[in-house]
Amino acid sequence: MEQRETFSSRFSAIMVMAGSAIGLGNIWRFPYMVGENGGAAYIIIYLLATLFLSVPIFLSESIIGRRSQRGTFGALQVLAPGTKWKYVGLLTVFSALTVLCFYSVVGGWSIYYCLKSLTFSFSNVNAHQVPDMFGTLIAHPWIPLFCHTVFLLLTAMIVGFGVKKGIERFSSITLPLLFFLILVIIIYSMSLPGASKGVAYLVKPDFSKITPSVVVAAMGQSFFSLSLGVGTILTYSSHIGRREKLLGAGVATALSDVLFALLAGFAIMPAVFAAGIEPGAGPSLIFETLPYIFASMGSPVVSAIAAILFFVAILVAALTSSISILETGVSYLTEQKNMSRWPAVFVLFVLTWIVGCLCSLSFGPLKDFHLMGCTIFEFCDKLTANFLMTLGGFLFTLFVGWKMSKSDVRDELTLGGTDRTAVRLFGLLYFLIRYIAPLVIITIFLTNLIL
Ligand code: PFF
Repeated sequence: MEQRETFSSRFSAIMVMAGSAIGLGNIWRFPYMVGENGGAAYIIIYLLATLFLSVPIFLSESIIGRRSQRGTFGALQVLAPGTKWKYVGLLTVFSALTVLCFYSVVGGWSIYYCLKSLTFSFSNVNAHQVPDMFGTLIAHPWIPLFCHTVFLLLTAMIVGFGVKKGIERFSSITLPLLFFLILVIIIYSMSLPGASKGVAYLVKPDFSKITPSVVVAAMGQSFFSLSLGVGTILTYSSHIGRREKLLGAGVATALSDVLFALLAGFAIMPAVFAAGIEPGAGPSLIFETLPYIFASMGSPVVSAIAAILFFVAILVAALTSSISILETGVSYLTEQKNMSRWPAVFVLFVLTWIVGCLCSLSFGPLKDFHLMGCTIFEFCDKLTANFLMTLGGFLFTLFVGWKMSKSDVRDELTLGGTDRTAVRLFGLLYFLIRYIAPLVIITIFLTNLIL
């Protein structure tokens, strides 16, 4: 088994976890889910789900990971020897890799848009040409496949070089850059004529839009956005030093993740309304809206520079997330199957590349092939966000709340009683982990299933 590396500081641990959390889920998925699910009311549910469900799950995964110093399968094996809990670890590895299959397709689209922006392609388009550009891309027989391959190759190379060398350095530089760029886009987007309707859409809730499936979607989005229920946060936490505060790291990650999602909403939605794009357009939403924003900037040079910077930042955010997903699978193979890092990376690359190709083709030649009423891409997306991540999160809270001893949980979360804030909040957090999170998740889930 590999020697377990530890993140060099609390700051880099937070940056790496935030790097996993902040990605296409915030910038690509959140705006279109808001658009599909009716705006502000959905955002409120998403925020509530983050506070009462995602934070407890995040802490549960962190506790399991750091306590065991193992990846997801080994962690449950070490903490509950001789039980079937370890298979939950296996399930989460499967879920993580399923996410990677469609995630890398969208990552590939962002590579394509990076290249397009480098050739000034957004400088003279109008609102009607932009959707055509996206439609042409996804239906093309090989360009999206090629981009998906490049994205996955980049992911594999970064993971291959190891947690410390590859991932840590990468995450620490790029997130602040992305933050700055989104702020610039928000200011611009809000100044577009007609933008105020988009702002109203984000802040004025219409509670009649809330249905059980909207609640499941908001919960799923929150889990997806924080990378929960697939063992990724667990695996990363196993690299957090023994003296770092888990509560502080968890709250910082959750806050920055929510912040990025909201910022992305405010960057995209005003422009969606200004451009007359349908908010419920689905996965294509940002790829139709952002070029419109850049195109309307007037000067071709300014728009090209803005587009290049923004699409590169999206690409980097996507990579810091995709590497965390692949790392989850790699740590399973290196720890449990005694494989070395590079062969493990290679095997998982091939598997996810094949299924990812099918996801990509489901916008073109395979668009009429449906699984339970969904295309292959939609199926992988919904299966993970609305089902597998929810199930994984539920099981992790059960494990910490009911299987681990309360004193172990307290010891890990409060650093043996030295983290004062965690000591003060322990009763509440334990109650959320043991009762509220699992009960609420299962209730929402079953209600949606029955209805
Ligand atoms: N949280 C990532 C995002 O918002 O883009 C997506 C993700 C990363 C999901 C890692 C699952 C995962 F394990």
